[in-house]
Amino acid sequence: MKERLFIRSWIDINLDNLENNFKIIQLKKQKKTKIISIVKSNGYGHGMVEIANKLEKIGTDMFAVATISEGIVLRNHGIKRDILIFGMTPLEEVEYIVKYNLIQTITSYEYLLDLDNISLSQKSVIRCHIKIDTGMGRVGFFYNDIKKIKESYEKNNLKIEGIYSHLSSSESLEIEDVLYTKKQIDRFDKVLESLKKLDINCYGSHLQNTGGLINYSYLSYDFVRAGIFVYGYDPTEIFNDKLKPVMNFFSKISMIKVLEKDSFISYNRRFKTDKQMKIATVSVGYGDGYNRVFSNKSFVKVGGRLSRVLGNITMDQIMIDITDLENIQIGETVLLFGEDQDGNRLDLGDYTKKVGVIPYEIFTGITNRVERRYIEKMQLFNN
Ligand SMILES: Cc1ncc(COP(=O)(O)O)c(C=O)c1O
Repeated sequence: MKERLFIRSWIDINLDNLENNFKIIQLKKQKKTKIISIVKSNGYGHGMVEIANKLEKIGTDMFAVATISEGIVLRNHGIKRDILIFGMTPLEEVEYIVKYNLIQTITSYEYLLDLDNISLSQKSVIRCHIKIDTGMGRVGFFYNDIKKIKESYEKNNLKIEGIYSHLSSSESLEIEDVLYTKKQIDRFDKVLESLKKLDINCYGSHLQNTGGLINYSYLSYDFVRAGIFVYGYDPTEIFNDKLKPVMNFFSKISMIKVLEKDSFISYNRRFKTDKQMKIATVSVGYGDGYNRVFSNKSFVKVGGRLSRVLGNITMDQIMIDITDLENIQIGETVLLFGEDQDGNRLDLGDYTKKVGVIPYEIFTGITNRVERRYIEKMQLFNN
């Protein structure tokens, strides 16, 4: 265990909770459907290698990352399962797809031709999944371009092992969103049908992310792509009671003071005391990833009791209201979100919505200054 005397804010990553959430996905998906766990962007900020190691142990079938360098890091840390790269790998790095046994997404017709040329010149076979744009408007073959999609299957040096699309609004049950999602599902199915009619066997199909898995669990493609759910957040809110937070963010109280009525707190005087108040300063700020949008809006817990964040979040410190809280000491731990060892819980989703951000942004925005510790089978260890 590293010396922790000078620690000011830290996150505990609970791998037992990750397992709990992963098991719910195993139960929710169709029986034959396999799971691609999404570990891009440093495992949604949780630590890609530690998360992938745990998920490999508990039975994920595959991983997905955004970039080739993320895939290489996983391989260099001994990850054995298949790894799909969502993004375009620059052409000068394509040789590493094969070297590290990764799977490349074909994101467009032009990219298909480039990949084919390179694989021919390098006398290699690149494993690929084809991406179809059914309405996300980001990357992929346009769903109507069956002729071009078909060409992917005809290239001898590209081994097409999968075909997929991405839903833009699957977590929402608003009528317009449901209609749009159904349109996307329909378009994807039509692509698969059209290819089938051309005698192409489209194995390795996948469409559902977390929202797609929860709200459209009847779909039975070959894979689901599980992202935010395994980290303990359900954008549909249906599984809120069963999910457990994987990331638990803490800091410490560095100062306590009493401010008289009509005093201001923090930059730009956005909070003014309307009575005498007891204020604690906490050693975390937007420089740690405690986002500035939480200014004057979020809550923390001290010793299991709720406390309001007052005024603007600064780079390194925040101020909280402890007027009504007894026996608070300097050095006391503050739960920013997640769950503490005593079972006190503060769900990030409870206040991100109010301030117009999504937990994905907060998780991936925790900075390197914040120490990450890992908990497995109730034991604490550092990475
Ligand atoms: C292509 C793709 N599939 C799946 C996911 C996972 O989505 P979620 O975290 O909502 O499950 C993402 C996330 O950004 C993605 O880009």
